[in-house]
Amino acid sequence: MMQPTDDFTVAAKALAADGWCSMPQLMSMAQTRALAQECAALHEGKVMLPAGTGRAHSRSPLRGDHTLWFPTAALTAPQQVFQRRIDSLRIALNRSLFLGLVDTESHYAVYSPGSGYARHLDRIHDSDARVISAVFYLNDHWRESDGGALRLYLPDQSSRDIYPHAGTLLLFLSAQFEHQVLPATRQRMSIACWMRQQGVGATC
Ligand code: OGA
Ligand code: MN
Repeated sequence: MMQPTDDFTVAAKALAADGWCSMPQLMSMAQTRALAQECAALHEGKVMLPAGTGRAHSRSPLRGDHTLWFPTAALTAPQQVFQRRIDSLRIALNRSLFLGLVDTESHYAVYSPGSGYARHLDRIHDSDARVISAVFYLNDHWRESDGGALRLYLPDQSSRDIYPHAGTLLLFLSAQFEHQVLPATRQRMSIACWMRQQGVGATC
C-alpha cells in the first residue's frame, strides 16, 4: 500500500516544478464525509457568516460564500483529523522544499447555487504570511455539468479547471496564482486553508 508520505513527496515535487498540484484523496472517504456533514450542519444552523475580503473584512461583492474559521483551540473531531493530515503535509513540504511553514489557518466555505468568487490572489492584509493555498473539497457525486470549478490561472495565461470532488486537495503558491470560483448549480462546500510562514509584512 502506498504510504501517505509518498503522496506528499509527489505533491512536493509537483509544487516545486509547477507551483501547483492536486491530490485526489487527502484522507479516507469516511473522514471526508464527516467534515462534509459538519460543514452542512453548521451552514444549516446559520452560524456561518457572509465572507468578506481585505483589511476590513467588509462584506464583498466579489464573493458569495459563507465561511466559518476553524477555532484556534478545541477543534472538533473531524477538524482534528484534517489538521493532522495538513500538518504532516506542511512538515513534508518544509523538509523537501525548505519552506519554513510555521502554521495554518482554515475555514469552511459554503457557496450557494449561483454564487462564486471573482478572480483574485490569496495574499491579504499586505502580509506575505500565506505561502501555500490548500483547498480541500467536500462534495459527493460532483459532475462537471454542476459547474463550480476553481479556475486556476497559470503563468502562461492558460487556465485549469479543478472540480470540487470530495477528497480532492488543491495546492498552489498563494502569491503567484490568481484563481476564481465559478458559480455552481448546487451547493458547493470546501475547506480553504493557508500554510503560513512567519509574516514579514503586517500581521493578520
Ligand atoms: C478562497 C478560495 C476556493 C474554493 O477562499 O480564497 O479561493 O475553491 N476558495 O473554495
Ligand atoms: Mn482564493
